[in-house]
Amino acid sequence: MTSDSINNQKYLFPKYSGNNESLFILLNRTSEIICKWFSDADKLGPIPIDSKFECSVPGEYGKSVDVLFSEIESLIYSSFNPVHPGSLAHLDPPPLIISILGDLIAAGLNNNLLAHELSPSISILEETICKWFSIKLGFSNLAGGVAASGGTLSNLNALVAARNSAGLETDPKAVYVISEEAHSSFEKCNRIMGLGKNNLIKVKTDKDGCMDMIELKKTIDKCSNDGKKIFAIVATLGTTVRGAIDPIDKISRICNERNIWLHIDGSIGGIFSITNLSINRINNVDLANSITINPQKILGITKTSSILIVSNIEILKNTFSTGLPYVSTENDLLNRGELGIQGSRPAEIIKLWLGLRFLGMRGIENVLNSSIERRILFENNLDTAKYDIYSGPLHIISFIPKGMNKNESDLWTLNKRINLMKNHFMISRPLFKNRYYLRAVFGNYNTSESHVNDLLKLLN
Ligand SMILES: Cc1ncc(COP(=O)(O)O)c(C=O)c1O
Repeated sequence: MTSDSINNQKYLFPKYSGNNESLFILLNRTSEIICKWFSDADKLGPIPIDSKFECSVPGEYGKSVDVLFSEIESLIYSSFNPVHPGSLAHLDPPPLIISILGDLIAAGLNNNLLAHELSPSISILEETICKWFSIKLGFSNLAGGVAASGGTLSNLNALVAARNSAGLETDPKAVYVISEEAHSSFEKCNRIMGLGKNNLIKVKTDKDGCMDMIELKKTIDKCSNDGKKIFAIVATLGTTVRGAIDPIDKISRICNERNIWLHIDGSIGGIFSITNLSINRINNVDLANSITINPQKILGITKTSSILIVSNIEILKNTFSTGLPYVSTENDLLNRGELGIQGSRPAEIIKLWLGLRFLGMRGIENVLNSSIERRILFENNLDTAKYDIYSGPLHIISFIPKGMNKNESDLWTLNKRINLMKNHFMISRPLFKNRYYLRAVFGNYNTSESHVNDLLKLLN
């Protein structure tokens, strides 16, 4: 054993008695580094330009905490910094401070949401918060939900449940329908569910990026002529490139007539539906069988934070429960690892619960509304003579100089992004309908009016 390894003994695990001083020291030291990194964002910008991070791997003997802290610092200072006001590229806002604490608490407790006996209080917390969401969204008492590590998994949980409840688990004719602007992760869901390319049907969108109802009806007729069986239609509440919202009420009518499961991918916009904000098409989500909500994408709940709400929780149980023969289940308590694909799960619900409690409905509305206001300020002042602009009612906007073909847009967006980055603005560059765009996502609470104006000066 080296002296480092001997020294490390006192830092191995928390002590079960005494004052846990070693843990206390390490937590304080970590807090200091993180706080300093946040504050340094002002001079360093959203992303390190010349990252010098060298990744080390474990050796024969453990390293001292001093060595590790210098490596931690190097890792942190080579990371994307979401608190910088120019961090506008993706759906990755600054972390809500209280949710950072939630992650710390979850790590400290190290409870497992697989089983009630491994997370007695947190299992109840997850059930209660999912119920709260269900009621806020207008669902009945039968509704409930489950947390998952990200929107892709929540959507996948919903699709597997939809196919199961249609009795089409093993039917090669089973298909589901999304809009052509739905998120790319549905392709992944398709593969995981053992479906082929032809089992994922994409419906054209209208000029606003919403699923076109005439096209949807044509698609349904074609499926039925081809002998395909639709087990779900997915409406997107907030598309990735322009925040468009599909017409949920109209799609739901079609689903009702044909007894098809309606799933809403509200990964981006679903959280708006629990508020009283007046935004076109965020209501009526209770017409769906299921909805994904990702508070990580705009409220600033630290990653990952996603929940799936279903109108009838029994369907999740019927779909996923296998029984847990090695876990004792007293009094018919539900083991929440039986409600979705994940088994062992971290207590992600703690940071969501704390975030929601800390903000309250007024605070939630303030965070969400301010993001829309920033997008409107930007959009109203972006040169419309110069740019084609694509946006919806939410906080996302994409744009491109008029008349550019794919190659021109490729070069222009590449150069513009580099130029913006030098000025500490990080925005993204999606490939959309065969051209490259610049996209700004205004979910960053630290971005002020003057930052938006500075960005406009670089673009107009
Ligand atoms: C509309 C939409 N759905 C689903 C996802 C996937 O979510 P996640 O990255 O949390 O898995 C995204 C990601 O950006 C998205 O924009």
